[in-house]
Amino acid sequence: MDKSSLQRDSFGSKFGVIAAAAGSAIGLGNIWKFPYITGVYGGAAFIVVYLICIVLIGFPLMLSEFLIGRKAQKNAIGAFKKLAPNTPWFLTGWIGVAAAFVILSFYGVVAGWCMEYIFKAAANTFAGQSPDQIGGIFGGFISSASKPIFWQIAFMALTAWIVVAGIKDGIEKYSKVLMPMLLVIIIILDIRAITLPGAEDGLAFLFKPDWSKITGEAVLAALGHAFFSLSLGMGTMITYGSYISKKENLGETAIQVTIADTSIALLAGIAIFPAVFAFGIEPNVGPGLVFVTLPNVFQQMPYGHVFGILFFVLLAVAALTSSISILEVVVAYFAEDLKMSRKKATIIAALIITVIGIFCSLSNGPLAEAKLFGLAFMDLLIWCSDNLLLPLGGLFITLFAGWYMKRSSVEEEVKAEGVKAGYFGAFIFLTKFVAPILIALVFLNGIGLL
Ligand code: PHE
Repeated sequence: MDKSSLQRDSFGSKFGVIAAAAGSAIGLGNIWKFPYITGVYGGAAFIVVYLICIVLIGFPLMLSEFLIGRKAQKNAIGAFKKLAPNTPWFLTGWIGVAAAFVILSFYGVVAGWCMEYIFKAAANTFAGQSPDQIGGIFGGFISSASKPIFWQIAFMALTAWIVVAGIKDGIEKYSKVLMPMLLVIIIILDIRAITLPGAEDGLAFLFKPDWSKITGEAVLAALGHAFFSLSLGMGTMITYGSYISKKENLGETAIQVTIADTSIALLAGIAIFPAVFAFGIEPNVGPGLVFVTLPNVFQQMPYGHVFGILFFVLLAVAALTSSISILEVVVAYFAEDLKMSRKKATIIAALIITVIGIFCSLSNGPLAEAKLFGLAFMDLLIWCSDNLLLPLGGLFITLFAGWYMKRSSVEEEVKAEGVKAGYFGAFIFLTKFVAPILIALVFLNGIGLL
């Protein structure tokens, strides 16, 4: 072991690894985006396609990222420089760091909305309002110039404050508290939802597939969402992998994190759709589902504002354990390769991202007309990460683990310290062939070439 790897911070326990990695994966993607795209693409059949994507692409890509990171003991860019010196592979890491800037810029804005909504729910703002008025409250809030920016800055400050403290004393410590809290809240909301009269229709929407609803577009959305939801394609899991001890079984960790992420997405669906159907609201409203439809549902329930507060705390907590993982991708690179102190790296990265984020926020209001390639700025960043950066990053990562790295060295890392890995053959097959081909298809389609 060289001196620099002796000095590296790392996760302190198995539970800490799972809490941090699942904390990264479980976020706005699960609770805000998964339910609304499930609503848009018609429910259960979409979920089945999504589950297939998780198994065929999500799992092998996550394990690939973990093993690249742990083998190299470096950040997303440094890892490729170390494992493939004097080759252009480090550009894969660059895609990751670029994606981190792009994603956290808009992620911080949406997370800020969640924080505002905790207070709106607490102040019982939605009581007695019509659905149109509740929609108007949301539209008015996100398009105003200062309030969403105030919350975005507050959220980014919180993210930076945790990341400055490091891996064991920052990211791991907070994930270990916040993740169990998230689980408790979502279970309370689930129990409330499935005991509502009329909940069955919502459950049927989630679990009884209607295959006629599956379109090519739905399959692509499912595939794209698998990346985002599992935090894959941008080196988050490479960075986290580099903090995992050699004693841990990486395959098992990847499976556990994947299952945790998928379960929370389903639990979020169970918390939302029974209520949506019980109150006779359309499920396919899109991004406003949790900010417009849910407050509308909550205000019709006894003690609804309490469930509203719980729900938005849940969203903010989930967002926080994800945003720290995104910021860490940049901070690890700045600190290790650009030799900055952790504090300086965190402050610089967070500041740049916050400034880009301010433009995202403004693009929902004052700057809505300033379009680039026909999209408002925030939509453009979301498009770039979903269609360009994550699939491209993911494609190169699977090619690297499946084709560039020697099979023996991949096997050695997966089976480090006597770990038995019965699934190794399946993993290699998925990583070499299935995942890259499917990702390439999504990518070409996403940029309009297929
Ligand atoms: N997985 C997170 C979510 O579901 C978002 C994320 C994407 C985090 C990419 C890290 C990297 O909300």
